[in-house]
Amino acid sequence: MTKSNEYTASDSAFNRRSFLQGSGAAAAATALHSSSTEAEQQSAAKVVRGAQAITLNVNGRESKVTVEPRTTLLEALRTQLDLTGAKPVTADGSSGASTVLMDGKPVMASTTLAMAAAGKKVETVESLGGDDSDAVPNAFVEHDAQQCGFCTPGFVVAVRAFVNKNPNATEAQIRQGLNGNICRCGTYNNIIKAALDVVKGGV
Ligand code: FES
Repeated sequence: MTKSNEYTASDSAFNRRSFLQGSGAAAAATALHSSSTEAEQQSAAKVVRGAQAITLNVNGRESKVTVEPRTTLLEALRTQLDLTGAKPVTADGSSGASTVLMDGKPVMASTTLAMAAAGKKVETVESLGGDDSDAVPNAFVEHDAQQCGFCTPGFVVAVRAFVNKNPNATEAQIRQGLNGNICRCGTYNNIIKAALDVVKGGV
């Protein structure tokens, strides 16, 4: 399956790639120009180093966490906020298992820096569960849309995001829209049935 551009963190102003590019450029400038200009020194000073105290808004709740600049949102969610729904399957986000919403858009928590999520509203699969659970997880249960379940949290969030944006989607559009998520157990047909039920207002 091809990966949807929508499911990358490319929209983020401070994602892992831009951070690495920025810090790499600053390091190279320092090494190559021992007599660097004031402007170069100011640029290098913008590179963030060491543990940073930030506030994350996750599932409507503000929490203070301490993260390194390299800490991913997935690591912060799982190890500091005990939200283990999003899964660390592939570090590059190609599985879709770490899908969460950031300001309503699906992103891979495994490729989004925790610092990039500060000031944004993050929603994880946990926000869709509980006593008053969302129609999407209910539809997954109804259609037996999981086997091992490892991909399921990412799919549930991805379906919720897709249906929010495409409330009248066809089956073909759903298949296309979810192509950033991979299920190694091959439960795609039941996942699509579940998503179609949600589109039709069922469950
Ligand atoms: S249910 Fe096992 S990977 Fe999807």
